[in-house]
Amino acid sequence: MADPARRAALDILTAALAQRAGLEAALEAPGLAGLAPQDRAFARALAMATLRHLGPIDRALEARLQRAPPEPITMILRLGVAQLFYLDTPAYAAVDASVALADASRATQPFKGLVNAVLRRAGEAGPPPGDPDDLAPAWLFARWRAAYGEAQARAIAAVIPDEPATDLTPRDGGETAALADALEAEILPGGSLRRVGRGRIEEWPGFAEGRWWVQDAAAAIPARVLAAAPGEAVLDLCAAPGGKALQLAAAGAKVTALDRSAARLARLRESLQRTGLAAEVIAAPAETWKDERRFDAVLVDAPCSSTGTLRRNPDVLWTLRPGEIAKLAEVQARLLDAAARRVLAGGRLVYCVCSLEGEEGEAQARAFLGRNADFEAAPIAPGDGGSPQASRTAEGWLRVLPHHLAGGLDGFFVARFRRLG
Ligand SMILES: C[S@@+](CC[C@H](N)C(=O)[O-])C[C@H]1O[C@@H](n2cnc3c(N)ncnc32)[C@H](O)[C@@H]1O
Repeated sequence: MADPARRAALDILTAALAQRAGLEAALEAPGLAGLAPQDRAFARALAMATLRHLGPIDRALEARLQRAPPEPITMILRLGVAQLFYLDTPAYAAVDASVALADASRATQPFKGLVNAVLRRAGEAGPPPGDPDDLAPAWLFARWRAAYGEAQARAIAAVIPDEPATDLTPRDGGETAALADALEAEILPGGSLRRVGRGRIEEWPGFAEGRWWVQDAAAAIPARVLAAAPGEAVLDLCAAPGGKALQLAAAGAKVTALDRSAARLARLRESLQRTGLAAEVIAAPAETWKDERRFDAVLVDAPCSSTGTLRRNPDVLWTLRPGEIAKLAEVQARLLDAAARRVLAGGRLVYCVCSLEGEEGEAQARAFLGRNADFEAAPIAPGDGGSPQASRTAEGWLRVLPHHLAGGLDGFFVARFRRLG
């Protein structure tokens, strides 16, 4: 009989890859809720190990399959190879459990023999070589090579199998050292805390009192380079779930946090309540928001391909389609222009995306300046906001790559502009 943990891992993998549900939604797979904590942890670990090594796993399978089997069988085989090579599952258990998964439904039963034979042969051959080129889809790797060169592209891809630590942003910078002690965390440049320990985040010291929130070290940089001063009116135009809006509020700014997703804004409201911070929260599309106010500073953390989050969301690499990058770039250009209209003369505009793709970053920033003669670039100083020195571009923008910090961080592009007075 198929065991419930592996069944749940299959559901997660199918939701993430075949249904393109996004990892967060996939990890809500119905089968997971009813599992014992240990089984739930195994199901997640198995699904994540499969996604983090999907390139080499698929290579190992392609070498042993004459033609692609039906999708559910491909998913079962992927989980099987992950157990063989990336988890400590004994080979016989990995094979038997995969055969049992195939046996669990009438559609996949006829492929039991194939699952058994392919996984046995894969197990005998041993793990595929861990070449970084294999860790990302070829088309994405080729883009990174063209943009950053071979060595950097390999360094980006090399972080894909790594399970990231959890980064936290302290609400009050004066508490950073005390929180680092309490949480046994490392203090990163810029003041983020990095905790390697696992377990329920809600139970970590200081969570209930709202003394910090979870935010990747790179994601904390854009709000820092916006440098909101106490009392300034600041608009966060794509605010949910809200890490950056919380930073702006913690800096003492009068924050207006707008997002078109009311569901995602609910998470910002919860975080505001927990941290005791204040912001005006508005659910509306940025382009058509009926409000005439202008602001001292505006932050646009636009929706993007998210390829920079490859350590946390490895599924994105395998579900993104090439044409989607150009479509997202159009949305970003519209959002940037909507943001520009809201900036007071002399005010700042910060644009950022957690993408590694130039169309969403450098090209977007250049095109914005081309369209908006009343804006100029406001270069970011090297190291500003805790940014890695290597991320500073010649134009004064930040191109943070995932290997720019030991232990990794999200890839981000950040540009700052000033509206002429
Ligand atoms: C990258 S996320 C923002 C993350 C957020 N800044 C944070 O730090 O947690 C992009 C957000 O843009 C929102 N969004 C997408 N299109 C939008 C639009 N036209 N107007 C306003 N928000 C939009 C999405 O709902 C999503 O929450």
